[in-house]
Amino acid sequence: MRGKSVLLIIGGGIAAYKSLELIRQLKTRGCGVRAILTQAGTEFVTPLSVASLSGEKVFSDLFSLTDEAEMGHIQLSRSADLVVVAPATADLMAKLANGLANDLASTALLATDKPVLMAPAMNVRMWNHAATQRNLATLKKDGVLFVGPNDGEMACGEYGPGRMAEPAEIAAAIETYFASGGRTLEVRAPDGALNGLRALVTAGPTQEPIDPVRFIANRSSGKQGYAIADALARAGAETTLVSGPVEIAPPAGVRLLKVTTAREMLAACESALPADIAVMTAAVADWRPEVALNSKIKKEAGAAAPSIRMAENPDILATLARHATRPGLLIGFAAETDDVIAHAQAKLKKKGCDWIVANDVSPATGIMGGDKNTVHIVTAGGVEDWPEMPKSEVGTRLAARIADAVRGKAA
Ligand SMILES: Cc1cc2nc3c(=O)[nH]c(=O)nc-3n(C[C@H](O)[C@H](O)[C@H](O)COP(=O)(O)O)c2cc1C
Repeated sequence: MRGKSVLLIIGGGIAAYKSLELIRQLKTRGCGVRAILTQAGTEFVTPLSVASLSGEKVFSDLFSLTDEAEMGHIQLSRSADLVVVAPATADLMAKLANGLANDLASTALLATDKPVLMAPAMNVRMWNHAATQRNLATLKKDGVLFVGPNDGEMACGEYGPGRMAEPAEIAAAIETYFASGGRTLEVRAPDGALNGLRALVTAGPTQEPIDPVRFIANRSSGKQGYAIADALARAGAETTLVSGPVEIAPPAGVRLLKVTTAREMLAACESALPADIAVMTAAVADWRPEVALNSKIKKEAGAAAPSIRMAENPDILATLARHATRPGLLIGFAAETDDVIAHAQAKLKKKGCDWIVANDVSPATGIMGGDKNTVHIVTAGGVEDWPEMPKSEVGTRLAARIADAVRGKAA
């Protein structure tokens, strides 16, 4: 979205603070941002914060003389490629649905000739109210685009739909919108794109027993793998998910094989072959204790701390790459903490897979266990850098990319 520009209207809701992060994410991607802050919006974020982050003057007042000598509200509303309302309050939705224009934000929304994208944010009862739902239907009919709202915990203590989409989600939707020439906000595999194909996905950590009560594991949450399995199944693939111990519910329509150790994971993967597509997201332990003791190691007074001899685990990705029934498209994941791309390129060659999805999992990124991911798709043809986005979005985009590849459009 380099060279594009967005007019961001920030309404008066608690989620207004998230619009600051949205500005940062859009600017990082090379998109210009000018902002209108509603009067109520100024109660939640200051014009100074918005101006500092956007690097532009912030507009609030419809009757500001200097701006209006040049018909500021008309120019403002037309100078951008897209008008984004985040947070879109119940009030702003109601005004636009009914053609009201009694302040700068609502006047700009009515005067614009550019597409409008709203990210609603409000209390669940406000969202579910018949009036808001009526306004939503009207706005959709008028061509207004929407991202979110999501279900979740609200600042008011209630739970349900009404939580504003995360800044990364909104930024990814805007990016997709521009990249698709305004056709779509979501990159998704078309319905049925993977019909008739078999997919295998691994997810989560493995646990390698030391004794009956202790094990060696890692911090993988399984969220990314579950999101990918979900997206592949939605695109029509008959999907098997081989999962290490995690705390998440399996996606609908996916065959779940639960395992604990790396060796069990390999056996489960082999049992799921043949597969047209395999995505190996699991964080498989490279080593296991050579011997798993049958009884708990006791702490004896004065005795030295025990040492654990490790043995190498099977390499599931490399094994599948050499397998007699090798998956048609074999994708590995590389979680790295340094030199992410160089390591991923080396791994692609060493393991013999087709793509590596690489991500930086240094603690500061919050990716391990978090809901967002920033990935790079490394293939023999080069590296695609994807912006930060929710793991669910990585799943849907990867399924779309896979559908393109297996249907012969890309490699
Ligand atoms: C503390 C507080 C939080 C609010 N949060 C929201 C909200 O999340 N969503 C919403 O639609 N309205 C919320 N409101 C109500 C709006 O601020 C109010 O409707 C205002 O008139 C909206 O003005 P605007 O649409 O011009 O920004 C909140 C009000 C207060 C006092």
